Amino acid sequence: MIKITMSEENYLEELLTCRLDLKKRAVEPCTIVIFGASGDLTGRKLVPALYHLFCEKQLPEPFRIIGFARRPKSDEQWRNELLADLKKFSKYKDLDFSRWPVFAQRVGYCQGDFGDAQSYENLRQRLMTSESEKWTRNLVFYLAVSPSQFLEVTESLNTTGLLKKEDVPGSWQRVVVEKPFGRDLVSARNLNLDLSRFTQEKQLYRIDHYLGKETVQNILMFRFSNFIFEPLWNRNLIDNVQITVSEDLGVGGRGGYYEEAGALRDMVQNHLLQVLALVAMEPPVSLEAESVRDEKVKLLKSIRPPVVTENYICAVRGQYIEGESNGQHIPAYRQEPRINLQSNIETFVALRLFIDNWRWANVPFYLRTGKRLPRSASEVRIGFRATPNVLFAAQCGPHLDTNSLTLRLQPNEGIALHFNGKVPGTSTEIRPVRMNFDYESEYGAYTPEAYERLLLEIMAGDSTLFIRRDEVETAWGIVDPLLQAWAGKPLEKNEFYAAGTWGPSAADDLLQQRGHKWRMPHGIGDK
Ligand SMILES: NC(=O)c1ccc[n+]([C@@H]2O[C@H](COP(=O)([O-])OP(=O)(O)OC[C@H]3O[C@@H](n4cnc5c(N)ncnc54)[C@H](OP(=O)(O)O)[C@@H]3O)[C@@H](O)[C@H]2O)c1
Repeated sequence: MIKITMSEENYLEELLTCRLDLKKRAVEPCTIVIFGASGDLTGRKLVPALYHLFCEKQLPEPFRIIGFARRPKSDEQWRNELLADLKKFSKYKDLDFSRWPVFAQRVGYCQGDFGDAQSYENLRQRLMTSESEKWTRNLVFYLAVSPSQFLEVTESLNTTGLLKKEDVPGSWQRVVVEKPFGRDLVSARNLNLDLSRFTQEKQLYRIDHYLGKETVQNILMFRFSNFIFEPLWNRNLIDNVQITVSEDLGVGGRGGYYEEAGALRDMVQNHLLQVLALVAMEPPVSLEAESVRDEKVKLLKSIRPPVVTENYICAVRGQYIEGESNGQHIPAYRQEPRINLQSNIETFVALRLFIDNWRWANVPFYLRTGKRLPRSASEVRIGFRATPNVLFAAQCGPHLDTNSLTLRLQPNEGIALHFNGKVPGTSTEIRPVRMNFDYESEYGAYTPEAYERLLLEIMAGDSTLFIRRDEVETAWGIVDPLLQAWAGKPLEKNEFYAAGTWGPSAADDLLQQRGHKWRMPHGIGDK
């Protein structure tokens, strides 16, 4: 027998790894201008992601970061604030801070107001008077600002000549906008129209940070780099699909924002529909950005918009009242800071959607998301059809578990196949078991943060992981009927749920109507 040593085993694994990145465009030297330099997103996500990329030697050379915000401060003050945030928010336990002084030399601050033309002129001068001409050729404008300011900043950048709509050989400018993009279909359309006066579509990067997550990207790899799943992936074998994105936290310090948004706008229109699109789309003709996005749009267009009538329930909303979570008393949503005492904003949504196409006709896709639920978990559960009612099924009846496949997006990232097995022993007992793939034990603990991947893609000019204009509008078209049905309609008594529970009971009824029930996210009873 040939004995394979550990290093040979690693070598074999290495041979089997396909390095798709070899064909990718490289990141190019650039300056990243962050509007909203003192904001929560910048300190918590953007700068920690950039610093980590710097430590991993993945940033282009040279690169530079300029922060832009209203409050006056020196370069040194901003750097110190960022370092404090990095220490507080970085997810990497063994982060090497010794590289910070070198990184900080590339970081500068420009004080200004979005509404003040002179501020952009100051920014222009700061950008243009730099040691390296490579810094000024390529510019990323990252708008980590309120969506109501996207247009004002983009227009001013264009007026100042920093953002050019026409192609200039040898240079580029890209604009990154955060979610939410619009608050309904009409506003998203208008924003798209307005921004298109100053940018080409290929210059605009609409962020949905879910697409930067490893596990979300793996949905495409899992589906289209394996042969065995594709024959199962349709209405003939799949009975229902459940997508859960639950949070055990409340709104924290973002009450003001949440009062304007609610769960449907904050989570369903973007994250949940994106995950749904990746799970259900047809194989793209290539891995080019437009091919992937074409298929996502096609899928979103096949979703039947929910119809809300007295007799037909396909959506449930809820808001948490006080309750208990992990032994702690949790106040009601209406008692949280900056929340209206009579607020009718939904903190929970459950939906049943149908995809009217050849592959998925009549398969219910259940989506749910909410705050102050028993735990934070994001996962997709593909439920297969039941076995014919003979043999074991005839004896066990509904107790015989149906097969399912769980894509755990976070935490405990991984994939599990659930099937039935015989419990060892002299009696005949059947119990569901799991075949489990776990990211951490397979690949180690290092998983890059979503923003790291997204920032690299922006610097490389690859739009695959960003939302296209027609995509964002189609997604709004799906949730718009619900926004309209719920607008101004006070919550009813049965729409409230105690914090620490899985939402109003109507969310269970929604599934029971078709003989289904919610499966607990991985780790809770494991069902
Ligand atoms: N925070 C998150 O976790 C998160 C997650 C997903 C998406 N987003 C999105 O990211 C964007 C930013 O969110 P955030 O939470 O970071 O916001 P934030 O904490 O409220 O920060 C807003 C930033 O904008 C600056 N600003 C506001 N008005 C200005 C003006 N007139 N002129 C110049 N600067 C101005 C503020 O500067 P001063 O402090 O100097 O006034 C501050 O730096 C939003 O679109 C949000 O929806 C955020």
